[in-house]
Amino acid sequence: MRVRAAILRDPGKPFTVEDVSLSDPGPGEALVRVVGVGMCHTDVLFRMFPELPMPMIFGHEGSGVVEAVGPGVTRVAPGDHVVMSFDSCGWCRQCQAGAPSYCDEFLMRNASGLRTDGTSGATDPTGAPVAARWFGQSAFATHAVATERNLVRVDPSLPLELLGPLGCGLQTGAGSVLNVLNVRPASSIAVFGAGAVGLAAVMAAKVAGAGEIVAVDLHPGRRELALELGATRAVDGADPELAAAVGQVDCSFDTTGVPSVVTTAVGVVRPLGTCGLVGAGGGEITLQPESFAGRSIRYIFEGDAVPQQFIPELIRLWQQGRFPFDRLIRTYSLDEINEAERDSANGTTIKPVLLPGP
Ligand SMILES: NC(=O)c1ccc[n+]([C@@H]2O[C@H](COP(=O)([O-])OP(=O)(O)OC[C@H]3O[C@@H](n4cnc5c(N)ncnc54)[C@H](O)[C@@H]3O)[C@@H](O)[C@H]2O)c1
Ligand SMILES: [Zn+2]
Ligand SMILES: [Zn+2]
Repeated sequence: MRVRAAILRDPGKPFTVEDVSLSDPGPGEALVRVVGVGMCHTDVLFRMFPELPMPMIFGHEGSGVVEAVGPGVTRVAPGDHVVMSFDSCGWCRQCQAGAPSYCDEFLMRNASGLRTDGTSGATDPTGAPVAARWFGQSAFATHAVATERNLVRVDPSLPLELLGPLGCGLQTGAGSVLNVLNVRPASSIAVFGAGAVGLAAVMAAKVAGAGEIVAVDLHPGRRELALELGATRAVDGADPELAAAVGQVDCSFDTTGVPSVVTTAVGVVRPLGTCGLVGAGGGEITLQPESFAGRSIRYIFEGDAVPQQFIPELIRLWQQGRFPFDRLIRTYSLDEINEAERDSANGTTIKPVLLPGP
């Protein structure tokens, strides 16, 4: 079918909104009319990578309405409201153990832009292939073909256009705190980077009853928002004595990926605590082994979440007023995608959400 999509033709160049021909949903796939799609920093980062197949449609925080399903699909039906998350195989050891974000095929299914059989899923008007399976969805478009395992059904009474970011950034921050770092009532946590992922972690730490929540960011506005969302203290990331300014904590969480910040995030954790890392693309980290004596360091994918379980939990917390993620969102039309990216990069918008509808 003919759809409109924001395409990246060359790494690092602006997106162009063009007509694309999307293939019909195949076995285990569903066609989704995209109502909203968040822009995650991972889109911004990977769109600079020359290794990816171009042209490509990015976008991996889509929400929308199922319009058609391919052969063998049983978990969703046309008319269902869904959030699109990440893809997994369902059969490998980690998938069987309830840890789909560590699926043996995670990178192939989510970060290659292609189907597992190597096909692209879309063509441009000249018939040239367009990679359309980024995180099994490629949702910067009016329509996306997603895999059934990507989809989380949600209640039709919810504001569907806002829910897409639950599928990656928000579940990553909240899941890291609630599923991995074992934040408990009265424990302390330091969150480095108060963007979408970091602020989700701050809100989740408050939900868990943390006694001290230290938020670190370079932007005064983000530090201010962190304090409103549950941080008990905010620290300027440019502080030359950053570790001392943060102090010792039971666990820490880095979303910046900046090697010097990661080193600090490891250094502020007390023995027996855990430092969780999610930041991507910052380069290598050098640590003296004894600097993390008794501590654990864990790189985390997608907050260790099983999306079909965890996203409904986050929605419940939002309904209770305890996870007000809508405060991070600013909406844009699909045609405004380059402005959305600019506003995210310069810090004015925390979570851009594109509305591809008419
Ligand atoms: N591992 C995963 O599963 C996963 C999932 C989603 C996102 N990510 C990654 O998580 C990271 C964060 O994503 P996001 O969408 O929240 O990005 P973001 O750009 O919204 O947030 C990053 C924040 O870090 C702050 N920052 C940068 N340098 C800093 C420094 N030196 N000191 C203090 N703060 C600093 C920025 O001001 C910004 O607020 C990205 O690298 C993204 O690719 C990983
Ligand atoms: Zn798997
Ligand atoms: Zn993401």
